[in-house]
Amino acid sequence: FTAFLSIHPAFTIAPVSRRTFGSFVEHMGRCVYTGIFEPEHPTADADGFRQDVLALTRELGVSLVRYPGGNFVSGYRWEDGIGPVVDRPVRRDLAWRSLETNRVGIDEFMRWAGKAGVEVMYAVNLGTRGLPEALDVQEYLNQPDRTRLAELRAANGSPNPYGVTMFCLGNEMDGPWQTGHKTAHEYGRLAAETAQAMRDAEPDLELVVCGSSDSGMPTFAAWESEVLALTYDQVDYISAHAYYDPAKVDADSFLASAVDMDRFVDKVVATADSVGARLKHTKRINISFDEWNVWYQTDFGAARRAEDRTGWPIAPRVIEDRYNVTDAVVVGGLLISLLRHSDRVTVACQAQLVNVIAPIMTEPGGPAWRQTIFHPFAITSRLAKGEVLRVEIDAPTYETTRYGEASLVDAVATHDPEDGELVFFAVNRSRSESADLRVPLTGFAPGLRVAESWTLADDDPAAVNTADQPDRVVPRPTAQVSVTDGVLHAVLPPVSWTAIRLS
Ligand code: AHR
Repeated sequence: FTAFLSIHPAFTIAPVSRRTFGSFVEHMGRCVYTGIFEPEHPTADADGFRQDVLALTRELGVSLVRYPGGNFVSGYRWEDGIGPVVDRPVRRDLAWRSLETNRVGIDEFMRWAGKAGVEVMYAVNLGTRGLPEALDVQEYLNQPDRTRLAELRAANGSPNPYGVTMFCLGNEMDGPWQTGHKTAHEYGRLAAETAQAMRDAEPDLELVVCGSSDSGMPTFAAWESEVLALTYDQVDYISAHAYYDPAKVDADSFLASAVDMDRFVDKVVATADSVGARLKHTKRINISFDEWNVWYQTDFGAARRAEDRTGWPIAPRVIEDRYNVTDAVVVGGLLISLLRHSDRVTVACQAQLVNVIAPIMTEPGGPAWRQTIFHPFAITSRLAKGEVLRVEIDAPTYETTRYGEASLVDAVATHDPEDGELVFFAVNRSRSESADLRVPLTGFAPGLRVAESWTLADDDPAAVNTADQPDRVVPRPTAQVSVTDGVLHAVLPPVSWTAIRLS
């Protein structure tokens, strides 16, 4: 079948936000311990960080990392993780029922972030804690000097403030599983007063208030509406979280997960704008999509029910999902959806970075490797630049049981007016047919040629990468792609993700 795309350089959505390519490091499972940090590992640097993981993080093109949770943050005492390591307490982590050694804390993480070249988005605990502790951690991170906490940070080895500008006001506070779960009113008031005080100290902070844990929550939209009504003046973003579980839906619906993400974003935008209208505000609240990914959640639920929950393990193997080719195509599709909403989604974090539903896997003392989902993220982060363009898609549709009608092809494009480069990201959701992609390049600089083009597809859509076969699934140069007479033509194989750069 044929898929036509219509684009024009003047039809822009918004500039590409580098923060779209964020990730997430939670003190959960093996994300921190034996993930980013493993002093005994052969590649560990003087600070105990695995350099193989650092190199892969840079290759992934991560711009920002949310830290330290997640559900973990709702019981976390940040000051447990500073100062001499021997004095740091071991604590229970109720979220994941494990022990937190506090071997890694703020100072270590900020050092790691510097090495990885990423911005840090720091989440404060509004579960078991509140305004005073949020102010304290902000002071520890950002106060230049002369206060007790600034001097403590200096004594701990960092005289210069860390200059964190983005903070999350808690995590998933609508979820009954959250330690310190609250009603929208309770949370909205706490978030507003915490945000106001943090802003009094530093007016230019960018603050993220918790939206719903996912769009299926019974209080979805009502939660956003009530929380924003209480916090609109104080915050800049509302969070959105979405995980797509291949085991919960049929394959055709799963491949259309981005349709759900599109609708989710539209609903949160509509809700936020309706609150703004009611409050007669000109300011717009944007979305921080700070947890998204494919997650085999059904398997996790079954494992939890089966496991012996009397023990308190340290850094156990939790939700170490193995991703296949189809999962990577869906992840590529979710990135297309995020870019398409760049006017309102300006921050996004794939959850998580290492081992825990992650693009990077490690073995303790052993190798680190790229999962299939690593590739669409890395290539999109590397190639998307300039302006996101509106793309009109004229392609056959198919009926999904979960999301109704979906286009067989989805796509987005970016255009850099500086150097004229035009980049397409496209998925073919058909499980049986190739798509003939055709794009007239009217309005763009004449002479555009294919500079590079990558396709991720496989005869076996269930193929995965493992420690033994880390490169079983890799993107390959697109077999058929060309520009002829001002028209881009590419063949997208069944269940595939493709990126094409024209220059
Ligand atoms: O990313 C895993 C968990 O999913 C996070 O801790 C939580 O915020 C979400 O429910």
